[in-house]
Amino acid sequence: MEMNIALLPGDGIGPEVIAQAVKVVHAIGKKFGHTITFKEAITGAAAIDAVGHPYPEETHQVCLQSDAVLFGAIGDPRFDNDPSAKVRPEQGLLEMRKRLGLFSNVRPTFTFPSLVHKSPLKRERIEGTDLVFLRELTGGIYFGEPRGRNEQGTKAFDTCVYSVEEIERLARMGFEFAQKRRKLLTCVDKANVLATSRLWRETVQRLAPEYPDVTVEYEFVDAVAMRLIQWPKAYDVLITENLFGDILTDEASVISGSMGLMPSASLGENTKLFEPIHGSYPQAAGKDIANPLATVLSAAMMFEYAFELLDEAKAISDAVNLSLEKGVVTEDLAEGEVSYKTSEVGDWLAEQISNA
Ligand code: IPM
Ligand code: MN
Repeated sequence: MEMNIALLPGDGIGPEVIAQAVKVVHAIGKKFGHTITFKEAITGAAAIDAVGHPYPEETHQVCLQSDAVLFGAIGDPRFDNDPSAKVRPEQGLLEMRKRLGLFSNVRPTFTFPSLVHKSPLKRERIEGTDLVFLRELTGGIYFGEPRGRNEQGTKAFDTCVYSVEEIERLARMGFEFAQKRRKLLTCVDKANVLATSRLWRETVQRLAPEYPDVTVEYEFVDAVAMRLIQWPKAYDVLITENLFGDILTDEASVISGSMGLMPSASLGENTKLFEPIHGSYPQAAGKDIANPLATVLSAAMMFEYAFELLDEAKAISDAVNLSLEKGVVTEDLAEGEVSYKTSEVGDWLAEQISNA
């Protein structure tokens, strides 16, 4: 297969972890006979510095013309500490999601047998967890208008808005995911308080009869926050709005033992995008110590969701599992004195795939 992949390394550790994913994708291409072409483009603080905009038009065109986008991370402390900054790197991420129509962020949570003991949660509670969040990504309070301050600057407001159409397309994807999995769908909302949540619940209730094989549960977000770490195995597919999904998926990453391991796929109207959920981790930038596995596993999701190449995806996750078993890991996961550099883990994985 011919594949054109846009590379958006972004900020912080983004470039380092993307470089490892590139090694792995090259190894897959060679092994399975695919012709893979990468095209790099700028985003985030790096793009603000270069051209004054965190998601330049040129970058958008590169994404639109590619078959998939591999994305690193966005964010820079220079902007975090300056609330008056006019342009912020995160705006680029939000604009990219919106313009590419990436309305569904697929964030799986699973455990790795060799890492279960790393989680702060009890083994018997988490072992065998296999759930997936579909976080709505282009609506809700992240995008709603009006937003801002009153004239005196003494009040600030954000607006949470959802249309039936926005809820329905995400919910249908949730039902379809559930049908391919354990057939349990949980609609996470705050319908006891919020009007938008009541529309979510009403819409999901209306669709449910079309998917008779799927059991639907409705649960308030505060209760999910609790039960998710108490009994994660009780969940299969969870659908939720943008902000709830942002928060709950960070919480869910604790189940797997490390945020450095969790990949994601953003799906929607245009080119699909794949990114680790960990963010730019500026403290580690440039040190060759960041864990590249979430990005490498995002590349595995790319083969699965963008190209429907399941053997390729599995070859990557097998190599990752082996690296965890053998302790070829970065310092955040290392048990004893031996740890590997970001680039060494990438080299090892690529070699493993080539020789497997
Ligand atoms: C994420 C991040 C982003 C979000 C930030 C960086 C804007 O936390 O992808 O989860 O809130 O969506
Ligand atoms: Mn987040």
